[in-house]
Amino acid sequence: MRENPIGVFDSGVGGLNVLTKCERLLPNERFIYLADEANMPYGSKSAAQIKLAAEHCAETLFSMNCKAVVIACNTATVTAIDDIRALYGSRTVIGLEPAVKPCFRELGKSGYAVALVTSATYRSNKFERLIATCGGRVKPIARPDLAKFIEDNLSDIEKIAPLIHEIFTPYKTAEAVILGCSHYTYISKIISDFYGGKIKIYDGAEGAAQRLRYCLSLSDMLAPATRPGGVRFYSTFKRID
Ligand code: DGL
Repeated sequence: MRENPIGVFDSGVGGLNVLTKCERLLPNERFIYLADEANMPYGSKSAAQIKLAAEHCAETLFSMNCKAVVIACNTATVTAIDDIRALYGSRTVIGLEPAVKPCFRELGKSGYAVALVTSATYRSNKFERLIATCGGRVKPIARPDLAKFIEDNLSDIEKIAPLIHEIFTPYKTAEAVILGCSHYTYISKIISDFYGGKIKIYDGAEGAAQRLRYCLSLSDMLAPATRPGGVRFYSTFKRID
């Protein structure tokens, strides 16, 4: 089992940032990356649709003998991680959570942060509960299909700058920004530039990678230190309705 791969999935390319962090931290592991392109974007789907799609990804990866699955998607994590864990009780399932808590801890006394998420994450109970712990100092904002827009414009990402400016103009005085969707890592430079480089940007990717390493080492499932790592990439082609 220690030699088995680790599955990582997202609706598309967003989870690649999480994969990169995992590879850096666990260079001897072999990864299988699954992009659920057929069902992208998750953010504008109903909770039931997201659960179905995410469960299908987890099932695909576990059927490829993955020893652990990383849900490299905030939307699928808040919506489906409990169901996936219930389905695969004894297996390691790691989620990607918006870094609301670390950001809130580091906020200045009177400062506030903005958490940019997908519409589905915004509506989820888990995210609502998380935001409620911050006493109004983390303001959630959702932009429908921004993730899809990013996915479609990766080769010319600066094209998204006017939209980013429009989104953040009402929050010019924010002290920090939380990227609550793995796709948004691709626009972190545009956001940073909007704030003149004077803002701290948080995402949950590093935290997820560390949690993965911790869980694997706890169960003695880390690959041998001599083994070369690697990644295989897959994409879905069948839509789940
Ligand atoms: N990348 C996903 C996330 O972290 C969702 C993108 C989508 O809407 O498909 O939330």
